Amino acid sequence: MGYNDDIDRMIEAQDLTLPPEREPQRQYYFIKKCREIVKKESERLGRPLYAKSVCMGCQMNARDSEKLAGILETIGYQMTDSEDADFVIYNTCTVRENANNKVWGRLGYLNTYKKKHPHMKIALCGCMMQEPKVIEKLKASYPFVDLVFGTHNIFKFAELMDVVFAQERIPKGHPVMPFGVSQGMVIDIWNETDKIVENLPVERKYDFKSGVNIMFGCNNFCSYCIVPYVRGRERSRKPQDILREIQQLAKDGVIEVMLLGQNVNSYGKTLKDPITFAELLSEVEKIEGIQRIRFMTSHPKDLSDELIQVMGRSTKICRHLHLPLQSGSSRILKKMNRHYNKEQYLTLVEKIRKAVPDLALTTDIIVGFPGETEEDFQETMDVVKQVGYDSAFTFIYSKRTGTPAAEMEHQVPEDVVKDRFDRLLKEVQHGAAKRAQALTGKVETVLVEELNEQDQALVTGRLSNNFIVHFPGNSDLIGKIVKVKLKECKGFYFYGEAAE
Ligand code: 5AD
Ligand code: SF4
Repeated sequence: MGYNDDIDRMIEAQDLTLPPEREPQRQYYFIKKCREIVKKESERLGRPLYAKSVCMGCQMNARDSEKLAGILETIGYQMTDSEDADFVIYNTCTVRENANNKVWGRLGYLNTYKKKHPHMKIALCGCMMQEPKVIEKLKASYPFVDLVFGTHNIFKFAELMDVVFAQERIPKGHPVMPFGVSQGMVIDIWNETDKIVENLPVERKYDFKSGVNIMFGCNNFCSYCIVPYVRGRERSRKPQDILREIQQLAKDGVIEVMLLGQNVNSYGKTLKDPITFAELLSEVEKIEGIQRIRFMTSHPKDLSDELIQVMGRSTKICRHLHLPLQSGSSRILKKMNRHYNKEQYLTLVEKIRKAVPDLALTTDIIVGFPGETEEDFQETMDVVKQVGYDSAFTFIYSKRTGTPAAEMEHQVPEDVVKDRFDRLLKEVQHGAAKRAQALTGKVETVLVEELNEQDQALVTGRLSNNFIVHFPGNSDLIGKIVKVKLKECKGFYFYGEAAE
């Protein structure tokens, strides 16, 4: 019996007389109700109903999308790869302006499709929906959208779908609407929540690896970042719930877990019985069947010696640490509200490298933060050279309305930012290639993830340090850990061959 089978039994056992107050039973009620509606509609059309869940953001967003897909499948939709479907949901991101632009662009396409298929349902959720301006724009210019909700209430997805379905059953202009139902776009955005609803269905993208939320929200308020405003205050899941979920995942065949949080290093601080992230990791390590543990994201200001020790002695925690730098200039770091300076960051890196020598370090860097001078930028270049990252996500600063940085003076001109960005990228690539080159000829363990997209005679997998490797093999290897000799470095990936 898998995780979803157990939940399915509870949904089937749910009584449909009245919606319960308690969660998750309330959602089981609505899932069961929606399931009947979808079944009837499918019988009427003589074909299955298709749904597409599109993830547009970070790992957290991807995990949320798996939860949305879990609910859609449990309700009776068949998931499809095409957006020409009966139900399309976009799980949006808003961390940079171009993420928003992508959504506005895609909505134009969906509108054209919906005009030809009026029964299609369009739903939007995720971080971008937490911005009041976005909701105003949707109401004014995108009336064809059926459902809008935010980051705090995705557990309510089935309940909200029931409202959308209820609208459809009522003829347009009908004078009496059921309580809580108005015609038009269904919008449910919460500003904040302390609720964490457990035990809802999840449809995992991979059978053998899974993300696991350990906390939600962020309390750091880095001055450029919109996340604390759209994801709310930091809330940790109880360790028992996390461990139970991972035990169940292991039973279902998962061998790699990625613990997810905006700032995993401050995990557990707000719990009634506080526990550190390092303690949680030690508990996860004990779970039989789990062979690899990853986590994301670490804030340098909160990375403890205890965590470094646990990583150093662990055989399951992967040799990879994502440690966002954002800027190498202590002056800019202060304006970013990051609570560390250049020297502290470099000292931390030194300490980690000493304790875990084979660790791959990756990072996030923002170029063109307000007031960034050439000297500040050179400080960033200096850190990149000194650390030698295995890879780095480089971003051009994007002004986010409502954040303190948006009000700061001396926004850097576009051409200057572009020039710095290009120079940074070159330096990052140079350092990364050097790090990768050093692995050539070694034999490493690889978790095989999929058949290679371009060449089906190859499979693609990841080393413990997150590096990508392609090597000859077939689909039987997917989900297995195998030893591979790294033969040829291609910059960002390796070609290899099985070593046993
Ligand atoms: N502009 C550019 N990059 C940003 N990030 C967060 N906010 C912004 C912004 N306003 C980057 C940070 C963070 C990553 C997820 O996105 O580098 O670590
Ligand atoms: Fe944003 Fe900073 Fe929180 Fe990361 S730690 S989500 S950059 S506010």
